[in-house]
Amino acid sequence: MDRLLITGGKRLSGEVEISGAKNAALPLMASTILCKGETVLRNIPNLKDINTMSQVLANMGAAISVEGGCLKINTGSLVNKEAPYELVKTMRASVLTLGPMVARFGYAKVSLPGGCAIGARPINLHLMGLEKMGAKITLSRGYVVAKAKRLKGATIFCDISTVTGTENLMMAAALAKGTTVIENAAREPEVEDLANSLNAMGAKITGAGCSVIEIEGVDELHPIDYKIIPDRIETGTFITIAGITGSNILIKNCRADHMLAIVEKLRETGISITEEADGLRVVGPPKGTLHPADIKTMPFPGFPTDMQAQFIALVCVAAGTSIVKETIFENRYMHVAELRRMGANIEIEDNIATVRGVEGLLGAPVMATDLRASASLVVAALAAEGETVIDRIYHLDRGYEKIEDKISKLGGDIRRVKAARA
Ligand code: EPU
Repeated sequence: MDRLLITGGKRLSGEVEISGAKNAALPLMASTILCKGETVLRNIPNLKDINTMSQVLANMGAAISVEGGCLKINTGSLVNKEAPYELVKTMRASVLTLGPMVARFGYAKVSLPGGCAIGARPINLHLMGLEKMGAKITLSRGYVVAKAKRLKGATIFCDISTVTGTENLMMAAALAKGTTVIENAAREPEVEDLANSLNAMGAKITGAGCSVIEIEGVDELHPIDYKIIPDRIETGTFITIAGITGSNILIKNCRADHMLAIVEKLRETGISITEEADGLRVVGPPKGTLHPADIKTMPFPGFPTDMQAQFIALVCVAAGTSIVKETIFENRYMHVAELRRMGANIEIEDNIATVRGVEGLLGAPVMATDLRASASLVVAALAAEGETVIDRIYHLDRGYEKIEDKISKLGGDIRRVKAARA
């Protein structure tokens, strides 16, 4: 098992390239199930979650090859096979194969994802939507089985905005007979990217990026060559890194229009963020002068829950008190106990974290508990005095491509080492 050794306190400088968005790549990979032939996806990050989705698709008979950031998926000889527990348990986004499989084959069997470190994360809305489209859903021995001769268009209202739920339903509806309307659809840029790629395949989707999406089903879709959007959460993570270390960096290959809430809030803390021709120029304020700020996590275009942990790490050293309210997941404060080990002053009551800024953090051995929690420990460690050892960084490897290389290139003191077996 790998760990990261970080010695904090260094000013960073230079440029960093943002990778393709994990949460856009995963649904796009699943969407290849909908058509026969070879789809080429570009700007795909080299991450553990991408490998897991490749395994899920390969297990169904897809031929997959990867070169650099270019992933080729040939679904010509796909067979109707389940997404097994062994893979789904390692990545719940495997459930994104449910909608496309039932749409293409009239039958899908996917292991029901359990809860995870950040919350219970049910998929009732995915199932409700498929039922509305005429699928018969049964749950048996830990698996969801969905059957339908051909799905038919329906009006589906989601009482909670769900990202992968909207994506699953949109993919299923693309091959359904008739028109589907998803109301209170998720508006995240990753949902819009999926809609754009499905339209390139021949689907008829309007409204993606808004809360009502209309999908007119078509009889078949064709393979495409498509470049996915950059990762807005990785971009936000690098802004907090520059902010907490008082650094001046240029963040390249990012989309400022996907970053509005993040940029606004981070500017409030005193970080200067300006658009330049080839990226975002980020300049952190001198040590001790970060301002506190309050956030409430919300579906897009609000402040994303996937940036909450990194934001907390940042305001741990602000000159004042920040209030953070997590409204999306019920257990997404696992990083707080670890940040406290580094000297942070944070109190949690229900879903509210009160972060009282301290003068500085001190390096300590800490444990990564989930993907974004791990990122917050990297942010904190880069500003802390002395060495921090972050254990269990396989969580980080699920969502950040070559993070230690990117940070070292900026001048950060970060090393990956193998942990000795206990
Ligand atoms: N929910 C339900 N029923 C459902 C679906 C969702 O009650 O059927 C609830 C969830 O429990 C949660 C809320 O709705 O309280 C929103 O969850 P959502 O379904 O939007 O989350 P998700 O689709 O499972 C995606 C990202 C997450 C990100 C969330 C929120 C992917 C592969 N994952 O998850 O990313 O936190 O949206 O934006 O797109 C990450 O990258 O670290 C990560 C966890």
